[in-house]
Amino acid sequence: MAQGKRLICATADLAEAGEGVRFQFQRHGVEQPAFVVRWKGQVRAYLNRCGHVPIELDWQPGEFFDYSRLYLICSTHGALYDPSNGACLGGRCEGRGLVAVPVEERDGGVYVEES
Ligand code: FES
Repeated sequence: MAQGKRLICATADLAEAGEGVRFQFQRHGVEQPAFVVRWKGQVRAYLNRCGHVPIELDWQPGEFFDYSRLYLICSTHGALYDPSNGACLGGRCEGRGLVAVPVEERDGGVYVEES
């Protein structure tokens, strides 16, 4: 996979606090599962890896928000994360937040910066 910016999805694919888009993120040649969501109008992306046990968060493919649509939640033991910065807010993540992934939105698309 080439270095630089890569299109992940269309702007219209991400509703506010709605379903996220899963993708593979490459950093230093290593591919890892990641996801992007829209929060307070901005796109936010993180590695799809819980701070408690390094497994994927979503309770159904693309479903990262809890029932209140205010927090990101791990489907395994319920750890809660701040959608704006991935910080651990409670539960078994115990202060270990999500790893942010660099994304930007422009010209109707959402792009990830890879290396
Ligand atoms: S694996 Fe996520 S809370 Fe335990």
